[in-house]
Order: sequence, then structure tokens, then C-alpha cells
Amino acid sequence: MRLQEMRKLVQLRGATLDPTARRLGACYDVADLRRAARRRIPRPVFDYVDGAADEEIAVGANVAAFRSWRFLPRVLAGVASASTAAPVLDASLPVPFLLGPAGYTRMLHPDGEAGAARAALRHGVPYTLSTMASTGIEELRSAVAPVASGADLWFQLYLTRNRAQAFDLVARAADSGYTTLVLTLDTIVAGNRIRDLRNGLSIPPALTLSTVASVAGKPAYWYHLLAGPALDYANFAGGAPTTVMKTADFFDADLNWSDVADLRSRWAGRLLLKGPVGPADARRALELGVDGVQLSNHGGRQLDRTVAPVDLIAPVREAVGPSFTVLVDSGVRHGSDVAVALALGADAAVLGRAYLYGLMAGGEAGVDRVLDLLTAQFRSTMQFLGMNSVAELRKHGRDLLTRGADK
Ligand SMILES: Cc1cc2nc3c(=O)[nH]c(=O)nc-3n(C[C@H](O)[C@H](O)[C@H](O)COP(=O)(O)O)c2cc1C
Repeated sequence: MRLQEMRKLVQLRGATLDPTARRLGACYDVADLRRAARRRIPRPVFDYVDGAADEEIAVGANVAAFRSWRFLPRVLAGVASASTAAPVLDASLPVPFLLGPAGYTRMLHPDGEAGAARAALRHGVPYTLSTMASTGIEELRSAVAPVASGADLWFQLYLTRNRAQAFDLVARAADSGYTTLVLTLDTIVAGNRIRDLRNGLSIPPALTLSTVASVAGKPAYWYHLLAGPALDYANFAGGAPTTVMKTADFFDADLNWSDVADLRSRWAGRLLLKGPVGPADARRALELGVDGVQLSNHGGRQLDRTVAPVDLIAPVREAVGPSFTVLVDSGVRHGSDVAVALALGADAAVLGRAYLYGLMAGGEAGVDRVLDLLTAQFRSTMQFLGMNSVAELRKHGRDLLTRGADK
């Protein structure tokens, strides 16, 4: 065969020169991004994200619980112009998912919280800043301003033992125009993160004898880390370096319902409770004037073996009625997981590791990639299900699902 003839058969794609774009372009789902992240990132840092508490039973069970549902599609529904837009609290989001809080995100990639937030806002969805973030409340607000001045930023609160310090964060979030406060309930004592203990992970990561070995393997990571601004818990000025386990000293094991009532009276914006909230607790939150719950077991990072949050959606929805906001996180890895969450009665899903893998694999562009992939997956799942709108998906909900035989 002559070269001329061969060229008709073989289409040569132009090579992408930017290595990040090339790496991300070769990732077609969250599992690919996780693998790309593992290749790039030193083991202790990758394990900080990928690992969970104790025997790591819950983290796998969360993912399995989403995947245990099978779809019963409606056919011939004419879905060419299906819309993925969804009402969440008082906003209309282009897709029913958003980014949840993660502590110390700049350790994963120098783009950190600002990069993740810019990617979220570019996709029109809220970003939640963690109390334990490596970018400050005000700093993040300025960092996203070039993308969208009306950006919807949420703030995740740990009611720390030092209440004056916590209330100061709440006031700063209000002053900086954060719309929604997410109070995390399941960090009253430290999660027993075995991988972090074994790796001796410290905050900021230190070049100890055991980590020096990883420098040779991951030079780009260490170059960027050492060249960038110093890492710290940016919301607490002057914080001393610490271990991940020691950060638990901040937290308050006496947290109780009167704290929620107190917080409600201090915060005029939207208030959500994040944790393994069952039907009775969700009802109590509603009665206290809380706006919604984010069903979560912290991705299995706190109490291992906590029920998979996706299994709480239906009983909680039943207890709180249709208008109370119900979000779910822990185990969302695919647009189909989002569809399952909505079909079971959630308003939206919240991403954790799914976007953190993208961030580790390629910074802000990696988070963009995750959001693009999940958007496309969610849209095609809706279309395959024969649903033209999120309202329809929620209305037909349980008729579209059956438990898989392998459950
Ligand atoms: C590296 C990492 C850091 C996290 N930091 C926080 C945090 O500071 N505050 C919080 O409420 N949740 C935190 N979470 C929990 C997430 O917000 C979310 O609940 C969890 O990641 C969901 O599980 P999934 O990642 O398996 O989907 C963190 C999760 C990870 C993976």
C-alpha cells in the first residue's frame, strides 16, 4: 500500500504540546483522573486524599451503595433538548452538583482552593471553602472575582473549641458575601486515618528521610510546592505546623443542638448541616429553622462503617417533606451517581474526592475536566432514562430505579 493510500485510512491527530492538557485529555472518567493523580503526587499526599478512617470500609461501601442501583429507563421520550438545570436553595444551577469542602487543598496542587473555585464558578456551580483551607476567606473571594463577581461561594464551618475564633470566621464569611454556611457535625473527635499515621503526614508536608525518596520520583510536585507561597491553615493566622491528626485538637466534642440554634440566630444566610443525619435529626434541624442537610459520612474519613449517605436520602426526604433542601455526598464518582441521588429524593449531589483527583492530576484544568465529564455523564444518563428535565427525573424517581441483583 502506498503512503497516499495509507493516509486515507489512518487519521493522524495533531499532538498536544501542553503536558497537562495531554494528560487530562487522556482521562475519560474519574477513575482515570485518580490513576493520573497517583502517578504524579507523592504517596503521603495522595493517601491524604484517597485514604479514610480505620479499616476503610465506609469509603468503598459509599461508592458501592451508589452503584447498587440499576436503571429502568423510559424509552421513546424525545430527549434531544433535555435540560440539566436544577433549583438548589434559591439558585438555578446548570447541573445538580457542586464542590464540597476540603482542607488544605494547596498541598494537592498550587492552584488549590482558588483553582477549584474558579473551575466551579466557570461551570456555574457553588464552591464550598473549608474552615481548614489553605486559602483564606477574603483571599478566595478576590481570587474568583475575575471569573464571576456574583460567584456563589459557600463556607464550611467547624465550630471550634475556641468559639470566639469560630464566630469570627462566620462574620468574615458574611462580610465577604458567602451565601451559605455548612456546619460539619461529624468531626467532634479525630478520624483515625491509618494511612496518614503510617506515612507520618505532617501539615505542611515535610521533607523527612522517608519523603526524600519520593522527590526523585515526583520532582514536579516538590518543585511547585517549594517554589510557591508557604502553606498554612490560612483562616487561622500564624498557625504552627502540625500533623493531620493533631488538627483534631481544634474540634469540640460537646457540640450539640443548642449550638445549632445559636448559629442560626447569628447567620442570616442559608444554613446547612453536614453529616450522617438520619430522619429524626433532619426533622429536628428543619424545626430549628435550618435550611437543609448535606447527608455525608465525610467520605469514610471519620466514623468508619457509618451508613452510606445515599441510603439516607429516601428516609430523610420522607421525614422532612418536599421543600427542605437535601444534598448528599460521599461516593459520587459519576454523573449516574448524581441521577441516582436525585431519583431517590436529593436536590443535588456534592463532590469530594472526585474533584480532588482532578486537581491533583492537573490543577484548575483538572477540576474543569471533572466537571465537564460529570456534566456529560449526567446529561446522557438523563437522556437514556427518557427524562427531559430534572423535575421529571425527581418526579418519576423511584420508578426509574431497582436494586441490582448483585447487591
Ligand atoms: C482530602 C479531604 C479533605 C476534606 N476536608 C474536609 C473539611 O475540611 N471539612 C469538611 O466538612 N469535609 C471535608 N472533607 C469531606 C468532604 O467534604 C466530603 O464529605 C467527602 O469527601 C465525600 O466523600 P467522597 O470524597 O468519597 O465523595 C474532606 C475530604 C477529603 C477527601
